[in-house]
Amino acid sequence: MRRLLVASLVAAGLASTFAHPASSDNTLIRRRKTLGFGPENPNSVYRLGPLASTDFSDSSYDPYLVARQFIEQTTFGDVPTDSTFQIRKDSYTDKNTRITHIYARQYINGVEVADGDFNVNVRDGIIISYGDSFYRGLDASLDFAPNAVGTADVHAEFCNQLAEEMESRVQSLQQQSVSSGEQVIMGNAVQDLGDLPTIYEWNCAHVQTPYAMAEGKSFTETESDYSKEALLQFMIAATPDNHLSQDMIDRSGDYLNKMKVSFEHNVAGSHAMPSFTIDNVPDAVNPVKANMVFVQVPNGDATSLELVWKYEVEMKDNWYEAAVTAYPPHRIVSVVDWASDSPLPVAPVPKKPASEATYNVFKWGINDPSEGNRTVEKENFDSLASPAGWHSLPYTNDPQSEFTERKKGGKTAFRNTTTTWGNNVFAHENWDGRNAFINNYRPDAASKEFHFPYDPKKTDSSSDAMDEARKHINATVTQLFYTGNMIHDIYYRYGFDEVSGNFQQHNFGRGGEENDGVIMNAQDGSGFNNANFMTPPDGQNGRCRMYLWNTANPYRDGDLEAGIVIHEYSHGLSTRLTGGPANSGCLGWGESGGMGEGWGDFLATTIRSNANYSDYPMGAWAANRDNGIRNYPYSLNTTINPSTYQTLDKPGYWGVHAIGEVWAQMLWVVSQRLIEKYGFSDSIYPPLPNEKGEVPVGDFYRPQEYTADGEKKPLIPIHGNTLIFQLVINGMKLQPCRPSFFQARDAIIAADKALTGGENFCELWKGFAASGLGLHAKVIGRNPWGGGVRTDDATVPKECLTTTPKPDPEDPLPGDDDDDEDWEDYWTGDYE
Ligand SMILES: *[C@@H]1O[C@H](CO)[C@@H](O)[C@H](O)[C@H]1NC(C)=O
Ligand SMILES: *[C@@H]1O[C@H](CO)[C@@H](O)[C@H](O)[C@H]1NC(C)=O
Ligand SMILES: *[C@@H]1O[C@H](CO)[C@@H](O)[C@H](O)[C@H]1NC(C)=O
Ligand SMILES: *[C@@H]1O[C@H](CO)[C@@H](O)[C@H](O)[C@H]1NC(C)=O
Ligand SMILES: *[C@@H]1O[C@H](CO)[C@@H](O)[C@H](O)[C@H]1NC(C)=O
Repeated sequence: MRRLLVASLVAAGLASTFAHPASSDNTLIRRRKTLGFGPENPNSVYRLGPLASTDFSDSSYDPYLVARQFIEQTTFGDVPTDSTFQIRKDSYTDKNTRITHIYARQYINGVEVADGDFNVNVRDGIIISYGDSFYRGLDASLDFAPNAVGTADVHAEFCNQLAEEMESRVQSLQQQSVSSGEQVIMGNAVQDLGDLPTIYEWNCAHVQTPYAMAEGKSFTETESDYSKEALLQFMIAATPDNHLSQDMIDRSGDYLNKMKVSFEHNVAGSHAMPSFTIDNVPDAVNPVKANMVFVQVPNGDATSLELVWKYEVEMKDNWYEAAVTAYPPHRIVSVVDWASDSPLPVAPVPKKPASEATYNVFKWGINDPSEGNRTVEKENFDSLASPAGWHSLPYTNDPQSEFTERKKGGKTAFRNTTTTWGNNVFAHENWDGRNAFINNYRPDAASKEFHFPYDPKKTDSSSDAMDEARKHINATVTQLFYTGNMIHDIYYRYGFDEVSGNFQQHNFGRGGEENDGVIMNAQDGSGFNNANFMTPPDGQNGRCRMYLWNTANPYRDGDLEAGIVIHEYSHGLSTRLTGGPANSGCLGWGESGGMGEGWGDFLATTIRSNANYSDYPMGAWAANRDNGIRNYPYSLNTTINPSTYQTLDKPGYWGVHAIGEVWAQMLWVVSQRLIEKYGFSDSIYPPLPNEKGEVPVGDFYRPQEYTADGEKKPLIPIHGNTLIFQLVINGMKLQPCRPSFFQARDAIIAADKALTGGENFCELWKGFAASGLGLHAKVIGRNPWGGGVRTDDATVPKECLTTTPKPDPEDPLPGDDDDDEDWEDYWTGDYE
């Protein structure tokens, strides 16, 4: 089977699945240009355990030793003789599940294989599951000298496929109009193509430029020159400013002269290859990090290695991890934008001319102003999640303290603030839409009473509407700070803690990388009708930008819609948990990128739901649209939400948000099965620890159990909504980098096995199978523009069958005796 490239359509984030009608208000909507594509690795697998070897199946074994031996055994004889691997230092043991999540990176001849990832999940000497995308091939003794460049052009192939897709859609429209005897209506064609032309323009405008610029190259330059040229080539494709892009082509010499390369000496590092920092890069807001590494590109059913520059490029609206071929012509091999957009913007509705802090806020659980009024809420900090509260952080970790203050402060001196500035969240206005945040305006409440009026009035013009919204900045920043901290605390309690890469300035000595609280911009001036979140690796601040929505008069402020804030913050959660805290490139495009959107919708919807079942749309208040910003509300009624796995093949499902909507709907269906079985907890917050720091299990968790060795077994939430919340988050930790729907499903089932011993195996399978993601669901030629062919399947494993199945000779069900092989395949095979 030929694997196709998978495109990131993070881009489509901004592009709605319902077309943008031309509107005079369009000038207000700034669509954020974003690139995203990369190769699909045909050899990547995710396998479920339990796998044990007599060599190390013993709880006393060091999980790192087990993982190391396991990786060696699994890859032995398969990888080049000079292949080695390193266990990454962001590996960790989950305090609750006691599973050690170990991440390894492959090196060949000392050179990092940037997409050679191995993740092993181990407990008590047993492998619970593992993912493996190491380069396979016995001979890596390739000549990587200039001129001996690889031939695969991932970028060109991506663009060809995109062009073919558009062409075939236009043709099918023409055929339709011929058969119906009508003229081709251009408007229809435009509508059916949706955002493909924009995605094409963004990603493909410069697909041939590297060849033109490489003409006449003599390959006599230094590594440092190549690193600048390859980066300039990337910036030409990446900048949203077409004039700048053309100028970079016309005056490339001038730009290259200005770019300054500093060589980084990695004394202890194992990098056999150069590592640089490049300054004065046009359109980058910070110096760019550059490393020479390998990536894998498709080569028939295998992959071959391509030597590339890997860059981390921070721009105003994007934060890219990009791989560009090391030698000319410098082609882009893969690009992941660490920034994710949230809800698709909708077309604006046409308008006529136009001690403990306390907070006056829409309380946690109220999704938006249509659901309730504001009340005074306490700084409800959770002594486990936020030991210093929400308004306190050490001088040493405070970007506002002067250097001398920081030095004087020492590690333990905390500064208490009376503003929306603390260890987890920095919240403030960002009207000018820039990156600076330290001195942006934020409310100051000397008494820590953040009680500000919120009563926006109708206005006559859009500039008045803006002023009116800004009048409420105190209330809106307060709300954003409150919601952001509540999310920090709840995710913490479900296992997104310091070692797994959460967002805090100070980590209280509990591991993980520090100085990465979330910068939250209220009323960000860089756009309308949207929101986004940038997730760099652990140890660098996340950045969340919330916008105003000009969908109503007065404007609606996204900061007040908890679901949107939760969706955004959840990008940080899923990106840090998938593939490990230090790897932000695992949810870049295709199904993985789509699920990155879906988790946020699912978690936000679960948080707002209550004991009386109801369907929920996403972003309905901000968008001022009953069905919200997705195609369908989340619903158990298949007439209201007909999404299944196969829906991904439909036109309009090439963007990460549409893909994510299908995933969130599947999780919603699954969650209701657990709620049916276990009931509903009114509070999704675990109880606060007592003075001894022990969590009273009470009505929330089942009674604490212990292993034979006297170790605490994981706490298991009693109710269906809290249990699925836990399983979904635990699943993120178990799944491999760049997961498919199948692998993410399997990871949730593995998470249940690890947490409850597999009590919910059948409920989970039945839930997924009801949405087409059953045992024999298939995809051929996965590609996110609808080109792949998916087959829904409702089969569940045989032990979940309640009635005797009628055997089908063509495709026996797992219940059939002859079918043990199928079942074996499931546990041992990778169902890609
Ligand atoms: C908010 O309070 C007002 C006045 O008490 C009431 O009329 C309104 O229904 C409330 N809004 C919501 C959404 O509960
Ligand atoms: C900050 O507040 C805490 C108690 O909330 C207190 O123990 C600490 O001394 C305060 N820090 C400073 C610098 O005032
Ligand atoms: C915001 O609150 C501050 C007090 O913290 C007050 O001085 C200021 O006038 C308020 N701003 C607006 C726009 O109401
Ligand atoms: C659920 O519905 C029942 C009956 O209408 C009502 O009494 C209860 O308050 C509702 N619960 C919630 C959480 O809305
Ligand atoms: C599902 O929704 C449709 C459309 O709203 C409605 O006609 C139908 O009765 C619903 N089915 C169930 C089982 O509620």
